[in-house]
Amino acid sequence: MKPDLVMVGPMMPHVMEALDQAFAMHRYWEANDKAALLAEVGPRVRAIATDGGLGASAEMMAAMPGLEIVSCYGVGYDAIDIGYAREHDVIVTNTPGVLNDCVADLALALMLAVFRRIPQADRYVRGGKWLQANHPLCRKFSGTKLGIIGLGRIGKTIARRAEAFDVEISYHGRHEQPDQPYRYYADLVEMARDVDTLCVITPGGAATRHMVNRAVMEALGPDGVLINVARGSVVDEAALVACLESGALGGAGLDVFEAEPQVPEALFAMDNVVLQPHMGSATHETRRAMGDLVVDNLAAHFAGKPALTPVA
Ligand code: NAP
Ligand code: 8YV
Repeated sequence: MKPDLVMVGPMMPHVMEALDQAFAMHRYWEANDKAALLAEVGPRVRAIATDGGLGASAEMMAAMPGLEIVSCYGVGYDAIDIGYAREHDVIVTNTPGVLNDCVADLALALMLAVFRRIPQADRYVRGGKWLQANHPLCRKFSGTKLGIIGLGRIGKTIARRAEAFDVEISYHGRHEQPDQPYRYYADLVEMARDVDTLCVITPGGAATRHMVNRAVMEALGPDGVLINVARGSVVDEAALVACLESGALGGAGLDVFEAEPQVPEALFAMDNVVLQPHMGSATHETRRAMGDLVVDNLAAHFAGKPALTPVA
């Protein structure tokens, strides 16, 4: 008999097909009465497939007393109640590594877009303004100073790309990494004061909530640029809007927001901001690899083998 699996939201067709073949799949997002679905199938469910945005709450997992594994499409698992999972011996897997390139590519693209005003200049050409005058000058990115908050898998990939632009790199995290060639700052405000760009790439969740606060943004300053490709929760969004409005912060490139897909409307009118709808890993190639890992983790577990990429 196929094990029962709850899929929280729709996934790529190749993932749906593979899971449909191996599991008795229950499509949570399609159920009009979600509580009734969980009451009916919860007692026999052994697996959840979810993504980094939808996660899995303690309430959902509690409706599945035989739950063995939650397979997450995404490396960030802050939306999964990891405390509940640990207490109940539920394995949680994520998709580390396979998305480093694409998230780092987008981080660099946002830096270049903000410094070189790429979306604004594109609108300038399309709006016929070039016919009247040349576009105003913008700012050089090469040779600037970049502070990375979270020098993990993706942070290191961002650093390697930034090196190609002769950027001076430093980082902040809970631990110094002596094997890394970059300067470590234990104090985030101090690092913000010393750099041109701050790039946020830590996990989300309670430990990093509003770590980038007004003091950090003011230290980054009127010429400073904030890039966030991590989670919206890491940045105090109200303070960010206020700092951008007042000129206390120079500009921002944002892929993630506190209440996605809601984005503060105040940002729409700002000329010093480039916005993305959470696109870090959103390429065909990377999303396929993430989907494969979701399936392979579940397959390994139900074949009696260790999951491939369990979270620590
Ligand atoms: P990772 O390898 O685990 O790296 C995380 C880094 O953050 C580590 O260097 C860690 O260093 C630091 N960190 C963790 N907790 C911290 C804290 N409380 N204070 C300061 N630094 C802290 O993770 P990753 O694979 O690079 O992914 C990072 C995050 O990127 C994910 O969790 C996810 O939220 C986000 N992400 C976003 C997208 C997107 O589409 N925009 C895509 C993928 C991932 P220390 O241990 O020294 O503190
Ligand atoms: C995904 C992400 O877009 O991996 C992550 O942590 O934020 C992204 O790759 C997300 O998990 C899918 O919901």
